[in-house]
Formats: sequence, structure tokens, C-alpha cells
Amino acid sequence: MTVSPHSGPTRIGPSRRTLLKTGLIGGAGVVTGPLLWTQAARSAAPATGVHLSYGANPVRHMNVSWSTAGSVKAPRLDLGVTPDYGLTLRPESLSSIRVDSIYHHVDLSDLKPGTRYYYRLSHDGGTPTRGSFTTAPKGRESFRFAAFGDMGVAEDAARNVNLIRQQGAEFAFVVGDIAYADTGGQGKSGELQQDFGVWDEFLTQIQPSANAIPWMTVVGNHEMENGNGELGYDGYRARFRHPGNGAGGGEETYSFVRGNVAFIALDGNDATYEYTRNAGYLGETLDSWLDQRLADFRARDDIDFILVGFHQCAYCTNIAHASDGGIRDRWEALFDRYQVDVVINGHNHCYERTHLMRGGKPVQEAPRGSTVDTGQGTIYITAGGGGGSTYPDVLPVLSYYTDKNGLKIPEPTTYRAVGDATHSVAFFDAHPRDAHGKARLDLEVIATDGSEVDTLSIARSR
Ligand SMILES: [Fe+2]
Ligand SMILES: [Fe+2]
Repeated sequence: MTVSPHSGPTRIGPSRRTLLKTGLIGGAGVVTGPLLWTQAARSAAPATGVHLSYGANPVRHMNVSWSTAGSVKAPRLDLGVTPDYGLTLRPESLSSIRVDSIYHHVDLSDLKPGTRYYYRLSHDGGTPTRGSFTTAPKGRESFRFAAFGDMGVAEDAARNVNLIRQQGAEFAFVVGDIAYADTGGQGKSGELQQDFGVWDEFLTQIQPSANAIPWMTVVGNHEMENGNGELGYDGYRARFRHPGNGAGGGEETYSFVRGNVAFIALDGNDATYEYTRNAGYLGETLDSWLDQRLADFRARDDIDFILVGFHQCAYCTNIAHASDGGIRDRWEALFDRYQVDVVINGHNHCYERTHLMRGGKPVQEAPRGSTVDTGQGTIYITAGGGGGSTYPDVLPVLSYYTDKNGLKIPEPTTYRAVGDATHSVAFFDAHPRDAHGKARLDLEVIATDGSEVDTLSIARSR
């Protein structure tokens, strides 16, 4: 399949490139002439769906995104290190099919490290929306982040947004199946299975967290929206920003480094053998980018851990989707070669974690509460309990993986260490090397009701 990774939603404001070149602009324009009442009502509505994401360097870059109920006059972001602001920037504004909402994005660069910034989002005639964020500090300090997938719009999803706030996560890594605006999930469904207004409900739901910390998203199968661009990603691309340093110049894959941890986001839809609508669209371009990125990160002295996130599971016993042979065939050898510490997936709506894996086999046990060295093997985590209806968790003697012909091939479940079927979020605490040269990445999985689902301490020394 050959399609351009560059196709995208309709732009109605200045381009991202133009914005980066021109940056600061002067004061806003003035509404001239009468407005229809519907336009006036839309204009009076405040910015909603505010969400942040890191640029390529979390120390210097932050993307601020928000929505308005329709086209508005002079949308703008005021920014400063005090609530007096000082800078005014114009967003890139994008429309998307079958919604009136407009999605605005400002990509901020040259920010100061470890600094709190205050922002105000407004447009002519609209009530301003205010918020603040803090850039990542320089160097290697401890930090907490959240990881999960399959959130959707639901009561437990909203509870998980609160949980992420309460737990003090400094950013969230969201591994696909984000809003379920397309309920079909195979990239083939018609309009009856699509309600793109759900995206706005989702963005409203996450705003209490995402207006203050970055939510780094990757695509799942439900982001392949039939009729929404060559890959179905145009709706996703209109609403989310990413570092922009991925394979083939596309937005769906990217990497960033926070402290002593390197994060790599992949597009599992490219590798899956299950729902193959977008399989192979990046292909070798993606695999060689991944190889290079892993080699670079593993060679760096300031990086202790590499965490890779994408949607479909390399290892999960849950028989709803189980494991994907396409993921294993494309990327498992690379994960082994570069000693990737943790792979985070979703897709199966449950929590599950493997023992240490090498060469497709469990090589060392990693029971709940243990301390392990991921130099010996990679931990695969399914964190699909973000809020979408959960799949029952049973541990069969045999589960299966999907092979290249789409067949379900039975296999033993001996790789599984921990499993749970309640809604939950995985939290990680990254700690830099201590006096003995040992760095730690501590996992704590917390159910939506606050109970503990899993803990694991990952230690590596150099
Ligand atoms: Fe899902
Ligand atoms: Fe999925």
C-alpha cells in the first residue's frame, strides 16, 4: 500500500511552518460588521478541549491546542511567565469533517527549562480560558508519568482523568483507541458507526488534566476513520499535535526524551496482522527509523531506559484480541537487540504484564512486587483499562497470536506475570542513577477505585 503520510485536514488559519517563522504577532483584530446570532453564540463561547503536548524537546517545546464551537475572529494565545502574559501568538486553525468545531494549535519553542508558563486562550467576543503548564527541567531529575490506552468517553474514563491529576503525573502517554468516534475500529465502518462529535466530548473530558500536562497520543485501530483521509487519520491529525520527528515525516510516529527515559511512539496499524487497513503504509521506512532511533538512544550515556508505545499487543493472553504476530515479526528483534526496557500497548481492554522476554520466550520471572533488570529482557505491558468497557480476564492455558494470514494460532500463556480486568492507569516513577550507578523505573498500576493492581521495580546499571 503506498499512500502519503503527509495528507491532512483542511487548514483555515496560518500554517504551522509560517507560525514558527513569524512567531510573535501584535494585538488582535476587531470584529467589523454584524454577525448572525448563531455566529455570535459560537463566538461568545470560550475555548474548550484544551490539551497540551510536548514538542521534540520537552525542555524547550510545548504545543497548546484548543477548540472553538465554530470559526471565530482573531483566535489567539497569550503567554508569559506571570499571569500578565506579554506575548500574543496566532494559532494554526483546522477544520474536520462532520463537525462545526475548529481546532487551534500553537507550537511553542524556545521556552525556558523547568519554568511555569501562564496562558490565556481567547478570540474576539469570547470569554478567555486560562491555564498554566511547566516545562521539563534540564538534566536528570525524578518524575512520574501515566500510561494507558482505550479511554473513550465514560464515567470511569473521567475518573481516570482525575486519578492522573491526583497522582501528580507530569505527562500522559496514551497508546491508542482514544475517543471511539468511529466505533467500528477496522477503518471500514460507514457513517452509522461514526459520530465525530464524540471527539469534542473526549477533549472536554480530558481538559482538567490535559490543560496542565502534556497528553502524548498514538493512533489505535479506532483512529482509522473511514472517509477521513487516505489513512483515516485526518480527524486525529486535526485535533492532536506531536513532536514531528517521526518516520517519513509523518505525525503518527515520534520520539522524545524526558530526563533519563527515551520515549518512542509507533503506529501499530502499520504492523498489525489483525485489522490490516493501514498495514505497511510506512513499512521499511518506519522500521529503519525505529532501528536508528533505538541505536541512538541506547548509545547515549544520559539515557537509562527506553520505553516504546503503540496500540496492538505483542504479548497479551486476553482472548478478545490476544497477541499480534505482525508486531512480533516487525519489531520484536529490534526490541531485543537494543534491550528496550518496557513496551506499552493497549487494544485488549484489561491490564496485563509479562515476565522478562527475549527471543519470544520468558527468560526470567517478574512477579508482582519484584525488582528486575530489564537488561536481561523486555517487559511487555497491556494498559488497555483506560475507560472503554473492559474485557473479562481469564487465564487460559492456551491463548493465541494472529498470524500473517489472519489465523489465530494457539500458544501457551507462560509469558504472563500479572493480569487484571478492572479499569486502571499505569504510573511510572523514573529515577536517575544513584551513587552506585543504578537507575530505577518503578511501575505502580492503580485501578480507577484507587486500589493497587501491580507494582514492579525496574533497575539498570551501567
Ligand atoms: Fe480499544
Ligand atoms: Fe484497539
